[in-house]
Amino acid sequence: MAPRDVWRIDRAGTLSRLTRRTEDLPPPGAGEARIAVRAVGLNFADIFACLGLYSATPAGSFVPGLEFAGVVEALGPRETHSDTVPAVREGDAVVGLTRFGGYATAINAPLALLRPVRPGWSHAEAVSLPAQGLTAWYGLVALGAVGRGDVVLLHSAAGGVGLHALAILHALGARPIATVGSESKRQWLVKHRGLAPHHIVVRKARTFGRDLDTALAASGATGFDVVFDAVSGPYFMPGYERLNAEGRLVVYGAADFMSRGTRPNYLRLAAGYLRRPRLDPLQMMSANRSVMAFNLIWLWDRLDRLAAGYDALDALITAPPLVGRQFPFADAHDAMRHLQSGESVGKVVLDVA
Ligand SMILES: NC(=O)c1ccc[n+]([C@@H]2O[C@H](COP(=O)([O-])OP(=O)(O)OC[C@H]3O[C@@H](n4cnc5c(N)ncnc54)[C@H](OP(=O)(O)O)[C@@H]3O)[C@@H](O)[C@H]2O)c1
Repeated sequence: MAPRDVWRIDRAGTLSRLTRRTEDLPPPGAGEARIAVRAVGLNFADIFACLGLYSATPAGSFVPGLEFAGVVEALGPRETHSDTVPAVREGDAVVGLTRFGGYATAINAPLALLRPVRPGWSHAEAVSLPAQGLTAWYGLVALGAVGRGDVVLLHSAAGGVGLHALAILHALGARPIATVGSESKRQWLVKHRGLAPHHIVVRKARTFGRDLDTALAASGATGFDVVFDAVSGPYFMPGYERLNAEGRLVVYGAADFMSRGTRPNYLRLAAGYLRRPRLDPLQMMSANRSVMAFNLIWLWDRLDRLAAGYDALDALITAPPLVGRQFPFADAHDAMRHLQSGESVGKVVLDVA
């Protein structure tokens, strides 16, 4: 047994139940490695999970966190050789995915879910890629089938998934129209990602449809080939209504449901639920538009698909990701509040000293 620190929540429902504890970690099992964690990647899903609003959350007590980067400390008994299991040695710097359990200073992880840290990348940069990069790839490439010249509506473009999505759209030669929640993020995208100001919409529910039309006209386009939407709420239908024939709307989240407190705002959730978008499949057929939806955590159990996703990311995303803010492991609550505030740009990371 090796001692480690974790952030654990005994019952989802409020962020204030998340507490730091010291626990024993058993030796790694067959086909696993024990990793001394150096960086933990935060995802919006961590907050939804702690609030009890994420369907994949384990019942009862759990440690949140979907990804980590660190150094291999020990290997469990080797399993029979498999092409999907990378060769890993003690001392290797690795990055990995986990189905919860990531908010920890050490973790046992299946070798099949590990990848080497890319040469020249820090642990914080490495941990910024897996969950959010694979989400962008799966939604835009595997489902959205984005092609060269396609006009793509990309929500929350300055966020973790959003910046990876921009990089992928750039690599594919597609034309993004971005949305963000604030003017400061718009300026950030102009300055640091070279987007034209008239290709970025600062979301306001009342004028959103008109603002999209203005951005489309400024791009010389009449509609979207793909909409990539994790905001939903009042921003869903205006995007859907502006899909071209053969257009695909890929929905992968509902950030608009998030409130700023430590507990869910059930009134806001109920109102959002009652006003959720409803589509008529017969009308979709006539208009030749599709809507697709996914939860990436499904990929953790499909190792062949996951390996394909990682390989695709190697080709599509070559520059180190943007680490927006780093917090000490002890300050997990501050880090989560920062992500929950909607003000973060790029990845939010916990550093393990
Ligand atoms: N389906 C999946 O498998 C999957 C996997 C990964 C992520 N996701 C979803 O993808 C989205 C992005 O995830 P991420 O981890 O990369 O986070 P992120 O984009 O770095 O941060 C979340 C962003 O959501 C936007 N937002 C919109 N309404 C909000 C609200 N009411 N409160 C707070 N923020 C709000 C904010 O950006 P702007 O205001 O600038 O838009 C905020 O920065 C999330 O909705 C997440 O749940 C889904």
